[in-house]
Amino acid sequence: MLQADIFQNVRKPALEAETMPPECYTSREFFDREVKHIFMKRWNFIGHDGQVAKPGDYMAFDLVGVPVIVVRDRVGEIHAFANTCRHRGCRVISGTGNVRAFKCGYHGWVYNLDGRLTGAPQMEHSKGFDKADYGLFPIRLEKWGRFMFINFDKSAPPLKAQLGDLVDKLESYNFDDMELVRRRELEVGCNWKIYYENVQEPYHTPHVHTTTLATKNEDEGATVMSGNSGLLFGEGGDNAPVKLEFGKNYSSLVGRHIGSRGLLPGREPFPPIKSLEGRTRDGSIWSYPFPATTISCQREGMWYVEIQPLGPDRSKLVLGTCFPKETTQRPDFAEKVQGYYERLDVTTAEDVVITEQQQAGVSSPFATAGRVCHLEAVAHSFRRWVVDQVSQAA
Ligand code: FES
Ligand SMILES: [Fe+2]
Repeated sequence: MLQADIFQNVRKPALEAETMPPECYTSREFFDREVKHIFMKRWNFIGHDGQVAKPGDYMAFDLVGVPVIVVRDRVGEIHAFANTCRHRGCRVISGTGNVRAFKCGYHGWVYNLDGRLTGAPQMEHSKGFDKADYGLFPIRLEKWGRFMFINFDKSAPPLKAQLGDLVDKLESYNFDDMELVRRRELEVGCNWKIYYENVQEPYHTPHVHTTTLATKNEDEGATVMSGNSGLLFGEGGDNAPVKLEFGKNYSSLVGRHIGSRGLLPGREPFPPIKSLEGRTRDGSIWSYPFPATTISCQREGMWYVEIQPLGPDRSKLVLGTCFPKETTQRPDFAEKVQGYYERLDVTTAEDVVITEQQQAGVSSPFATAGRVCHLEAVAHSFRRWVVDQVSQAA
């Protein structure tokens, strides 16, 4: 199934193309190939540095089966390590918390916050054993504003090279000033690409978000973002109500509209982010830095969706909501922010239901590749990107 020609119809221009073959969403072999060629090589979004705000704060998690520790050390620097003990490989620590050092629960080896092995009980009798040789293996970690990314590949180019000009395009949202105000995890019974494609297209909005998002049609841009437009998606270039942008490793929807798309109808928004200018002030930008992150920048704040593949038919979603520091200090913040959580939770629940139904359907022996609607141009660009990655020589 992995010969190049199986993807020739995916590679065509969107309106001539087919979707990916169903096996790409169900097969363990294809999943393993994605892990190897995508997740083990790329910068993977892992969250906000506020999750490890103080020295000693750590978070342990598995990403595509690789146990990882992210920790802030005594001098405030953030590190990532392989969460694999150098003695006999046990996961050293789980969950989140604050520690002075990491002590492996199996035989008591102790690692400093900078990864050095400082304690190894009764190892003085082992010939030539030097603790300096057995620190935790470091994993590369770089930041975009306060957002953290890790890369398992020592030879990968820096994070900014992967993100490209998306960094400039989102600069006026000032990610250095974004506070993480809520983080929520949930599991969904579908392939990671099924969920990611879903959040990349408004084609489903009138059907899946009928009473929630599809009713927000105040102007042309909002109508298109609601998937209700007869316009060809993205038509009009720079002046289009919704402009499509395709980078090397990302795609974006740049929507011009009045009102907030971060709230359900009838809720009152926070004031706009002060640093916004141009199109960022007059709408929203939904960006999809590949492989599996959504960054939804709204006029007042933002949220991200991090998709972590757990297996061919299972994924973890991490939803993070962020606002500028000044907004978080408003006396009405705690009350009004509930509207943003509500919008994200209600629509996510709607997306989870439909993407699990899609997983069931593509797992059928009757499933075949389908065709692409113009409103799915961004999801199509993502599929082509995946095909390019997995088609690389073994
Ligand atoms: S496996 Fe960690 S101390 Fe033995
Ligand atoms: Fe949706």
